[in-house]
Amino acid sequence: MTAQQTELPVLPSDLKRELLPRHVAVICDGNGRWARHRGLPRIMGHKQGVNALKEILRTCNDWGIEALTAYAFSTENWKRPVEEVDFLMTLFQVVLRQELREMMKENVRVKFAGNLKALPAALQEQIQNAMEETQNNRGIKFTIATNYGGRQEILSACRAIAQQVEAGLLKPSEIDEEVFERHLYTAGIDDPDLLIRTSGEMRISNFLLWQIAYTEIYVTDTLWPDFDRNQLHKALSSYQQRERRFGKI
Ligand code: IPE
Ligand code: IPE
Ligand code: MG
Repeated sequence: MTAQQTELPVLPSDLKRELLPRHVAVICDGNGRWARHRGLPRIMGHKQGVNALKEILRTCNDWGIEALTAYAFSTENWKRPVEEVDFLMTLFQVVLRQELREMMKENVRVKFAGNLKALPAALQEQIQNAMEETQNNRGIKFTIATNYGGRQEILSACRAIAQQVEAGLLKPSEIDEEVFERHLYTAGIDDPDLLIRTSGEMRISNFLLWQIAYTEIYVTDTLWPDFDRNQLHKALSSYQQRERRFGKI
């Protein structure tokens, strides 16, 4: 069913459909500061961050964006206090369970990127279940980067490729970008066209290092829990002003 048929919001009239990014990636940063500004514990910021992510996912789907990738937990985030890490792991489980029906209804395909084997067993089960249940959906490809690190991803691809070479299945001269990309967590998903980082930090924090070679970057001071449909609209407007040259003149 199209957005119009279900009377969901359609693309704002000032945005050009042919210039929409096909894949948007987001570094969902600023949950802790959002909570601190309100005198709340950091975990309240994470809860509110989930609501923001739900709104952005729905909006991207409604507006016809093909893929959304969200950075939910980095390989470095294990260095946070154990209470916060535990809260996040439980939150991911609860939200996945609660939102599965909604994602089925909205035709979302859920994927995960990251070293999933290091996550709590119950969460791994939820993840497996969500990926299997939604694998035949034909709406937006929604990838949640969980225990994700760009360097670790590149290293694990190198290891897998080296094993193939060692087994005599691949020659070093056959290793090209296509072979390499097949070994990334994001295999089968085109590189992001637009990367959004909230909360004003001008850094990548180990996100999608290989994939963002030619991605347009948009940084906003807005904290992630406040990043809503209007904020996304602004990011897309900015993206549509860009001239992507890919090294050409
Ligand atoms: C991003 O918000 C969410 C995660 C990293 C899980 P932060 O928790 O990093 O919030 P700030 O940056 O401390 O405000
Ligand atoms: C990046 O945010 C990771 C996620 C949003 C999941 P961080 O808050 O961990 O990044 P740094 O530490 O400010 O670089
Ligand atoms: Mg942060």
